[in-house]
Amino acid sequence: MANRIIYEPSKTLLEFRLLPGMTAKDCSADAVSLKTPLVYSAGGEKKYTLNIPMVAAAMQSVSGERMGIELARKGGAAFIYCSQAIASQADMIKKIKNYKAGFVTPETIMPDMKIEELQKQSERTGYSIFPIVDENNSLLGMIGRNDYDVSIHGGMKVSERMIRREKIEAGVDLSDLKAANALLIESHQPVLPVVDREDRLLYLVFRKDIREHLDNPFELVDEKKRLIAAAAINTHDFRDRVPALVEAGVDVVAIDSSDGHSAFQEDAIRWIGSNYPSLPVIGGNVVTASGYLFLAECGAAAVKVGMGSGSICITQEQKGTGRGLATAVIEVCSARDAFFEKTGKYIPVAADGGINTAKDIVMALALGVDYVMMGRYFARMEESPTEKIEINNRIMKPYWGEGSARAREWKSIRYYQAKFVEGVEGFVEYAGKLDNNLPETVAKIKSSMSTAGARSIEELHRVAEVEVVSALSIREGMAHDIYMPGSASEQQI
Ligand code: IMP
Repeated sequence: MANRIIYEPSKTLLEFRLLPGMTAKDCSADAVSLKTPLVYSAGGEKKYTLNIPMVAAAMQSVSGERMGIELARKGGAAFIYCSQAIASQADMIKKIKNYKAGFVTPETIMPDMKIEELQKQSERTGYSIFPIVDENNSLLGMIGRNDYDVSIHGGMKVSERMIRREKIEAGVDLSDLKAANALLIESHQPVLPVVDREDRLLYLVFRKDIREHLDNPFELVDEKKRLIAAAAINTHDFRDRVPALVEAGVDVVAIDSSDGHSAFQEDAIRWIGSNYPSLPVIGGNVVTASGYLFLAECGAAAVKVGMGSGSICITQEQKGTGRGLATAVIEVCSARDAFFEKTGKYIPVAADGGINTAKDIVMALALGVDYVMMGRYFARMEESPTEKIEINNRIMKPYWGEGSARAREWKSIRYYQAKFVEGVEGFVEYAGKLDNNLPETVAKIKSSMSTAGARSIEELHRVAEVEVVSALSIREGMAHDIYMPGSASEQQI
């Protein structure tokens, strides 16, 4: 006989709706704040407060350094995947920490390159301006699209058409964007090369980027104004991986596992707690109150919730383990609140797996989580580490689970012992850049919170009224009984 049998079916986020609450005049969508704690921090450090309640999953097809940089710049965080060699993961963390807003590491060319080759390189990379350097990386000149016409100059060398170094204004050892901006304006150039004292090229600063970089109030930065970097770890090699990540500058780590309620996680959390006491560790995943309390008592700084709900996940099918995400969230968030009442420590909760849209995010927040982790949502973006491909006239990006055969090819330590897969691989529709998606998602979340009468996520937790909906009321909530050519409703009329 099982220890516990629950007859109430477990529920997904899709089965709930948020009821409207009283919207005060100071609670318009624009006034809603989405700030939320990433991890518990005794000193309440600002760098551990997300400005949007969204982080990108620790997956090969989601979170590389580009996602790490761009999402931190927008107030979230991407957890750099650990299903790779320690050195390459540490290298990604270094790139995030060394990133300087507005300072671009340039693609350089040599002076004897032919103009026709340059044209091809420009088409392939999408760059229109190239710095020309010698073998010591010393700046010799610059060339842009206005400096040549391939039908006339195709056979000439780049050195014959470039603007020479003497005519170019460059910043020497500059690291301040405001100073770079001032020099750029004086120079009349569209781009400012930054060189070291030996005139070796370091960066380019583009005029077109500068405004965006100068005022980015959402950026998540540490005390030295470097972007926050987050990484996944596993319970096998953490004794080697964590020191390398710390050396690289990591700010927070998350244990990547489908089952966090384990002695292995306890070992990892306690080891990090005694060797790197200032490094917050996120534990998980769990789906029960006992799992949450276990990790909180071990010293986890936040806990991820969800098993079997991810879009690429077949854990429930393969092993029969898991739980509907909404039920898991409700139980765990109530354990979080009880733990807070008892200890005074607020250990945040993240919902992870199966969260695809703004309404899923809102529902998870309303049910109590502090933020969400998403794979599929971010895999569709330009900033994920995969290449776009065309399938049946649609632009797609590949997306695969960390427990899929493809991820295991990478000798994923997490699954190498497994005799079966827990994830699938497929494709998701390309959605453009984060900039084309996040503003709309954020606007929808804020608008729902305003309707519910909440100015902040913390207030949403207090005031939200949430209701289970029937299958028919879900249908009622979609467009119906109207003819829309080409849409699914066409068949229903
Ligand atoms: P998604 O946002 O629905 O695509 O789910 C992403 C989440 O699924 C990740 O953050 C992980 O928690 C989980 N996950 C990633 N890979 C696998 C897998 O291969 N099997 C099961 N769960 C996975």
